[in-house]
Amino acid sequence: MNPELMKSGAQRLAAFQEKQKLTPVVNTESGGNVSLSRPYKAGELDLVHGRILYLEDVSVSFDGYRALNKLSLDIAPGELRCIIGPNGAGKTTMMDIITGKTRPDEGQVYFGSTINLLRYNEPQIAAMGIGRKFQKPTVFEKLSVFENLELALKTAKDVRSSLFFKLDSEQSDKLAEVLHTIHLADHVLRMAGDLSHGQKQWLEIGMLLMQEPRVLLLDEPVAGMTDDETDRTAELLLQLKGKHCLIVVEHDMKFIAAISDIVTVLCEGSVLAQGKLEQVQSDERVIESYLGR
Ligand SMILES: Nc1ncnc2c1ncn2[C@@H]1O[C@H](COP(=O)(O)OP(=O)(O)OP(=O)(O)O)[C@@H](O)[C@H]1O
Ligand SMILES: [Mg+2]
Repeated sequence: MNPELMKSGAQRLAAFQEKQKLTPVVNTESGGNVSLSRPYKAGELDLVHGRILYLEDVSVSFDGYRALNKLSLDIAPGELRCIIGPNGAGKTTMMDIITGKTRPDEGQVYFGSTINLLRYNEPQIAAMGIGRKFQKPTVFEKLSVFENLELALKTAKDVRSSLFFKLDSEQSDKLAEVLHTIHLADHVLRMAGDLSHGQKQWLEIGMLLMQEPRVLLLDEPVAGMTDDETDRTAELLLQLKGKHCLIVVEHDMKFIAAISDIVTVLCEGSVLAQGKLEQVQSDERVIESYLGR
């Protein structure tokens, strides 16, 4: 090899790396190993520090009432984090802050290590891959299960997908996979309005999954479900864990016991306790303020 050519090649590579600001990014598909194969680009999700969501000392008051009080949270990629706590503890407000619906008075909110979510609005945050499921199902009742899922793709961040009326083969595969995951493969042509409450909830989760979110926030997903639907929802979330980061707020402790890994207990706007469910359940402060009610 010609030394001159090698030298100029090395210079070009150094200049390219400088231009791209080469930073390692985590390849979550390979189990969280650091991958140096892709250069870091501005705005790209940087998971190198093993966190996908990070809240630090977040506070917000409504008419003088401090709904969140120096709330800090650190969530890992692919984690299924359960959040419990009494009514009014600030659980929904925490989701409002993460999704850009509410602005905190103070504190930091980061998506990965580098994306400051406080700089973005609600649609931008959704487009970045933070999906949210509200308590009440919001599906299009007059459309079929299939059409609801198809519509979720068209409204996705990807402009390309909204230009085509027909699903390409990759999208069809995705839709079939989601239908199977949400237990609605046998109901594909039914009107969403004819589904049971539980099935509507799964359909809405499916609509979020069509957009391939990195983080899914679920606020009381099993409220109003039958026992059987609750069990199937637990199975569904366990299946999604690892592929997506899930943050689940629920009061149903049997459901929490079925899915939980780390449980965070919120009370009066901040973290009261955190750990395995057995740990937090035996914590005196948790019993007093929540479980022992
Ligand atoms: N937009 C708002 N304007 C005024 N007050 C609000 C607003 N959002 C929340 N709050 C108040 O903040 C406090 C925390 O409410 P939040 O809904 O976050 O509690 P929660 O933990 O989700 O309770 P629950 O378990 O009942 O759903 C409550 O006192 C609530 O009334
Ligand atoms: Mg709530």
